[in-house]
Amino acid sequence: MKQITIACKNIKKSFKSGSQLFQILHGIDFTAYSNEMIMLMGPSGSGKTTLISIIGGILNADSGECAVMGKEINALPDQEKTAFRGKNIGFLFQHFTLVPTLNALENAAIPLLCQGITREVSFKKSHEVLTSMGLDLDMDKNPNQLSGGQQQRVAMARACVTEPAIILCDEPTSFLDFERGQKIMAILKELQTKNNCTIIVVTHDARILPFADRIINIEDGVIKETTT
Ligand SMILES: Nc1ncnc2c1ncn2[C@@H]1O[C@H](COP(=O)(O)OP(=O)(O)OP(=O)(O)O)[C@@H](O)[C@H]1O
Ligand SMILES: [Mg+2]
Repeated sequence: MKQITIACKNIKKSFKSGSQLFQILHGIDFTAYSNEMIMLMGPSGSGKTTLISIIGGILNADSGECAVMGKEINALPDQEKTAFRGKNIGFLFQHFTLVPTLNALENAAIPLLCQGITREVSFKKSHEVLTSMGLDLDMDKNPNQLSGGQQQRVAMARACVTEPAIILCDEPTSFLDFERGQKIMAILKELQTKNNCTIIVVTHDARILPFADRIINIEDGVIKETTT
């Protein structure tokens, strides 16, 4: 049976710029389930990154509820939030945010090492995930020695390496050609069905829409339409 893993109710978020306040999310209601891949689409600036950042506990909403795996993530104290995120959520950032001084193998292993898993086990798993993503020859390269598409796959490996219950991906195929994009989506789909996880993919890439169980459009900070 499908379980609710993410429940957003009336999420509002604004940003201050100078003396002006810009309302970005105007009251988002949204529910996600286990074993589900949701594609979140919408024009640039519509609030997609903002929304998944709130779900992932990276930003706090101004108001509203955001229960992730039954926990009100915005209300968790910082330390608890970090631990909760490490255990339950994988996040692929739109701009990767790889650690420049670490190589690909080390970058992808970070979430495991943070959980106190031994270096040997962490690197073995990181190696396995990076290999599945076609990076077998690039493990020892630092981010500045990798192409944009390679960096994106290292960041994806880091998001998936713990096989978390929730994976949030911000534009995972923006730097990938068709074949590599399909391969990455197939890996995500496999994780979804194997672990019953919830995957939210922010995307502009129509080529990956066939992987979606549900497509949600966000426009001017509200959810406009849901196609099942
Ligand atoms: N930290 C911030 N401070 C001020 N404004 C912000 C901040 N983060 C985002 N915004 C603004 O909020 C709006 C929504 O941004 P967001 O990054 O969520 O859009 P997006 O839908 O992900 O766009 P894109 O498709 O271009 O990635 C934009 O107008 C952006 O300028
Ligand atoms: Mg964005």
